[in-house]
Amino acid sequence: MNFDEEESFKKTPSRRIEKEIDVELLKDKIKEVSKKVDSISEQLSNAFSKSEKKKERLKIFLDTADVEQIRKAHSWGILDGITTNPTLVSRTGRGFRECIEEIVSIVDGPISAEVVSLDSKGMVKEARGLSKIHKNIVIKVPITPEGLKTIKILSQEGIKTNATLCFSPNQAILVAKAGASYVSPFIGRLDDIGHDGMQVVRDIVKIYNNYDFETKVIVASIRHPMHVVEAAKTGAHIVTVPFNVLEKMVKHALTDVGIQRFLDDWAKVPKGELKKYL
Ligand code: E4P
Repeated sequence: MNFDEEESFKKTPSRRIEKEIDVELLKDKIKEVSKKVDSISEQLSNAFSKSEKKKERLKIFLDTADVEQIRKAHSWGILDGITTNPTLVSRTGRGFRECIEEIVSIVDGPISAEVVSLDSKGMVKEARGLSKIHKNIVIKVPITPEGLKTIKILSQEGIKTNATLCFSPNQAILVAKAGASYVSPFIGRLDDIGHDGMQVVRDIVKIYNNYDFETKVIVASIRHPMHVVEAAKTGAHIVTVPFNVLEKMVKHALTDVGIQRFLDDWAKVPKGELKKYL
């Protein structure tokens, strides 16, 4: 705007007011847009921190001491770890140490091996011995007052623990306080006696999230594939599944029918054509 124009502008009140209104409108618009930008950036940062928290994906452990099953599942490329217990070891007919040594040579992930002493002194002694087998050994400790003492001692020594035979959120709170690396709620055994095993898992996950407890939840005593789906929906970190459940998870009748139909149709494709591309 040159001098003359400016002078004429000043002398024309209606144009000046119009200009002022424009400026005010502009200011409002800027405020509005900057509010929107703030809200979008807040939403983005929330989404980002949520995704940061969710970074850890569901892990699948195999609940067995049978090395043949372990080798098979391992070959599928989806296995993250193993849980054993005295019953599972006894089913193999092999010695405990021999079994565990072979398992750690197959799977590079947490391998739970259970102590059988009932007093803390005995548990700690067994745990120290077992943990020398391999760095991936996790000591399974039953949840009792002696078990809590043991978990505390082992966590101070840097030995990982899996608090086993968990049947209530209260037990899960105590083992998290004691420093357990993992807790294993046994959902199938709760369902067996008419309780809602999965509700216990939901409660534990919620409590741990509320307080950012570092103990990871292993959903155990799984009986069927829907247990796995429900466990995953709770946000539990790990499911430990028997081999027969893992086999059922991969199977679907429509997949088999679909493969057969594709093979039948493929057989009708002229062979000369095929040779050109294979
Ligand atoms: C988990 O660590 C236990 O070994 C297992 O899940 C127990 O399952 P069960 O109730 O089928 O014996």
